[in-house]
Amino acid sequence: MALSASIATRCPLFRGQDNMGGLMMSHAPGDASPSLTIAIDGPSASGKGTLARRLGARLGYAVLDTGLLYRAVGKMVLDRGQDPSDPDAAAVAARGLATLATAARLSDLALRSDAVGTAASKVAAYAQVRAALVDFQRAFAARPPPLPDGRRAGGAILDGRDIGTVICPEADVKLYVNANLAERARRRAQELRLSGHAVPKHEVLAAMQERDARDAGRAVAPLHPAPDAFIVDSSHLGPGELLERALAIVRGTIVRRACSI
Ligand code: DC
Repeated sequence: MALSASIATRCPLFRGQDNMGGLMMSHAPGDASPSLTIAIDGPSASGKGTLARRLGARLGYAVLDTGLLYRAVGKMVLDRGQDPSDPDAAAVAARGLATLATAARLSDLALRSDAVGTAASKVAAYAQVRAALVDFQRAFAARPPPLPDGRRAGGAILDGRDIGTVICPEADVKLYVNANLAERARRRAQELRLSGHAVPKHEVLAAMQERDARDAGRAVAPLHPAPDAFIVDSSHLGPGELLERALAIVRGTIVRRACSI
């Protein structure tokens, strides 16, 4: 059922309103569409990135993959011949990126490599790096940029590790997407194979365990679900099923809000 139709059925307040068909998708000036901030957190290869993109396309929301910010910092450090474990080098790169970050700069395909992912996880452990990137992320959530086709964004979706806990603790919807380690390693190995960089599965699994331990064990903004996050296990869900689960949660939030006015 369409998002808006489902809300109309379940919440008497909305029944009979002319703009129900556009409740989430029409963003003409002055319309009453709820503009939500959706936080999606979870470990790598949990499916959160694909979910964020699909949810964004479905709702007409701007999407920020915050992992790309840390990847861009990690890559800058590597490109300068520096060590991602050096907190000063990482902080200088992060402050530089914070003044330059744009969607175009974050679309560099080289950011997706495993080497950059490991560097990202290392620089992300430093408080100065995280502090330098906070404003950019919060500004995106507060004033989502236009969609690639020029339409006004209906809301913002940010995916990462600390969106629901640190960046947007007031997010309207918080999702924590997880999957078991074996399944995440299988997905990651497949992704690498498809991109022409086949790596033995046991190596992918070991690298993933190491990254999980660093991301969840760091002192600053460690990976963990916010107390009010909906936890979704994607181990046995395809991307379409995961999207439907998320949409059901978003609908539920809108209905609860509308019915409590
Ligand atoms: O989601 P990803 O694999 O692209 O993220 C790369 C690294 O960046 C990840 O290992 C941890 C870090 N990261 C973070 O600390 N906080 C975020 N909000 C997003 C990513």
